[in-house]
Amino acid sequence: MAAHPIGIFDSGYGGLTVLKDILEQIPEYDYLYMGDNSRAPYGTRSYETVYRYTLECVEWFFSMGCPLVVLACNTASAKALRTIQQNDLPVIAPNRRVLGVIRPTSEIIGNYTKTGNIAVLATNGTVQSQSYPIEISKFFPNIAVFQEACPIWVPLIENNEHTGEGADYFIKKHLDAVFSRSPSIDTLLLACTHYPLLMNKIQQYIPEGVTILSQGKIVAASLKDYLLRHREISEKCTRGAERIFYTTDSTADFDNHARLFFGKDIKSLHLDLDKNP
Ligand code: DGL
Repeated sequence: MAAHPIGIFDSGYGGLTVLKDILEQIPEYDYLYMGDNSRAPYGTRSYETVYRYTLECVEWFFSMGCPLVVLACNTASAKALRTIQQNDLPVIAPNRRVLGVIRPTSEIIGNYTKTGNIAVLATNGTVQSQSYPIEISKFFPNIAVFQEACPIWVPLIENNEHTGEGADYFIKKHLDAVFSRSPSIDTLLLACTHYPLLMNKIQQYIPEGVTILSQGKIVAASLKDYLLRHREISEKCTRGAERIFYTTDSTADFDNHARLFFGKDIKSLHLDLDKNP
């Protein structure tokens, strides 16, 4: 086990799509990934529950020596990050950091739209939190954000039904719904870890010329920049290019899904949070 890896957290497998891009841009660091599969999905759960689960996982990452944890999960970033940063970190770990995926995306999204109309596709939890409209308005006050919750998309992917014909109905349904609210939308943000896996089908059902943004590369570039700007954190992160994967549920299931989300074979380890001190 590396002494001080960067922690990458997700409710399950989805964060592997983000880790994949992080490894392309900053492979030299050690990484510790944890998917809380036994309690996923987070996208349908309340604030209190997502916060409690996420905090518990963040504490586990700290106990494993991570100076920095990235919440690769949009739902956890939307519902738990701010409270953890503002209320918990100063008490439990003032010298460690937790980052999310919403701010880095919101900071740059305005560079892609010409019409000032963007669509954000996400889980129910992320949409209800209003995190994207709030965060985007801080950087780009004139942009109109049209949100659409696509609750069926995650189970479609996790059950490997996302490339079949059945998936088209649900993909088209949500895209039609959001574009009917503003035909001027020219930028579509996939604000859920899983949605990049639907890229081919999404492309079929959107008007020509619309830019589709998935977050992996954006989050990776932002993390790289953060590590350059915050030497006090990056110097604590060890650079042995080690990757360790934990899941709170079946390791066999995790390893099977990993191929889909990560594009590579993984041998994960099991974590029982109840047994963790
Ligand atoms: N990882 C979640 C997200 O990005 C999707 C899966 C879930 O609902 O747990 O919002």
